[in-house]
Amino acid sequence: MFVKSFGCQMNVYDSQRMADVAGGQGYTETAEIADADLIVLNTCHIRERASEKIYSELGKIRELKQERAALGLETTLVVAGCVAQAEGREMLRRQPAVDLVVGPQNYHRLPDLLREARKGYGIVDTEFPLEDKFDHLPVATPEATRARGVSAFVTVQEGCDKFCSFCVVPYTRGAEFSRPVAKILAEIESLTRAGAREITLIGQNVNAYHGEGENGAANLADLLAAAARVPGVLRLRYSTSHPNDMSDDLIRAHAEIEALAPYLHLPVQSGSDRILAAMNRRHDVGAYLDVIARARRARPDIAFSSDFIVGFPGETDADFEATLALVREVEFSSAFAFKYSSRPGTPAADVKEQVPAAVKAERLLMLQQLLETQRQAFNLATVGKRFGVIFDKAGRHAGQLIGRTPYMQSVHAEADVSRMGALTEVEILGLKPNSLSGRVVARLS
Ligand code: SAH
Ligand code: SF4
Ligand code: F3S
Repeated sequence: MFVKSFGCQMNVYDSQRMADVAGGQGYTETAEIADADLIVLNTCHIRERASEKIYSELGKIRELKQERAALGLETTLVVAGCVAQAEGREMLRRQPAVDLVVGPQNYHRLPDLLREARKGYGIVDTEFPLEDKFDHLPVATPEATRARGVSAFVTVQEGCDKFCSFCVVPYTRGAEFSRPVAKILAEIESLTRAGAREITLIGQNVNAYHGEGENGAANLADLLAAAARVPGVLRLRYSTSHPNDMSDDLIRAHAEIEALAPYLHLPVQSGSDRILAAMNRRHDVGAYLDVIARARRARPDIAFSSDFIVGFPGETDADFEATLALVREVEFSSAFAFKYSSRPGTPAADVKEQVPAAVKAERLLMLQQLLETQRQAFNLATVGKRFGVIFDKAGRHAGQLIGRTPYMQSVHAEADVSRMGALTEVEILGLKPNSLSGRVVARLS
């Protein structure tokens, strides 16, 4: 089988779980798509370009499928993820080579669905089921976990109830749902037993987490504290957060939990109160800056990243200037900026005053230039400092390993392979175009 993942970390995690399900059915992963008898595209619907890319990809796979058929080989083509959820049966019409369309909440049904799909008439499953898919998904084998490296994602929360006016996620992933603490901890334990050392708790709205705990409901701060106690966990992260759910508990966790990286991805989307209101973000610039200030008080070395949308319907030059002003005020260590993309079924798509493409492109470029300047300034400021780095792969040159700083910067250093997966103190020596170079100082674990 061959799984290709598009979009966010949730899809990366889901792709691994689908590979685990198929593994239980006797499928093994192939390095080349042409060798696979089962092809899964795990798709993303967030922007128009992401969605359209899937159809060109499917066109290529259709040809591949025909070539394999000429050799007498069968190929089952599965479309999973958010485009599958959004388009359902329509996908079979647009691309008849597809055998199965399966939404994100139905992966636990894959064994049955695959059996049906192999019969060759298109199958669609995009219901939101009553049962919890996680209860029916197999855990990764130790071999699979080892092959995936020392850094692992664990989905703790799924879905979104926030309904930002531009966003398809509440429709493609459904209502917010949190997994129970005990199940998450058991999954983390099985990952660390197989060698995982850095765990990222993920969810579309991860800081709205409210799962069943030992003594009633647990929030994300409780969950992080419990995860930090799992033997073998050297570093914890969580993503993605909404500013309105940055509770005092969670901010305190940044001061108290040593394993928690001093790094926070906190999308703000715009620096204009008028646009934030139109986006239905339910907070203003002041509230966002307040979260930033509270987090910096709790953890002075914390760094921030964010997501921005330029050219939201009705965005004026003044609104865009306000976004640039916010960026200058916060100083991000890295961030993503996107041109607004009108998505079918979302409220913002119906607004008349769409921003012309040329204006969007110009604003995107300006914002990206500012963010890039800040990224480089942040990287430069880390030169001479020492950080805990978990090495997770071999470098380009012999004797070199590559890992990441707490701030997600890639760093390479001369290091013995025995340090792979260990927390190692590294001094940053200099900047390279896409990474930092460093020197090993001491072993921390
Ligand atoms: N749950 C997260 C991220 C959701 S999607 C959050 O609350 O922020 C990731 C990013 O894609 C968003 O933060 C947003 O910046 C961008 N995005 C979402 N919908 C978009 C659209 N219609 N056009 C352009 N960018 C979009
Ligand atoms: Fe989309 Fe907003 Fe939910 Fe994030 S919080 S997933 S941007 S609706
Ligand atoms: Fe894309 Fe779905 Fe993630 S739309 S960003 S794959 S939640």
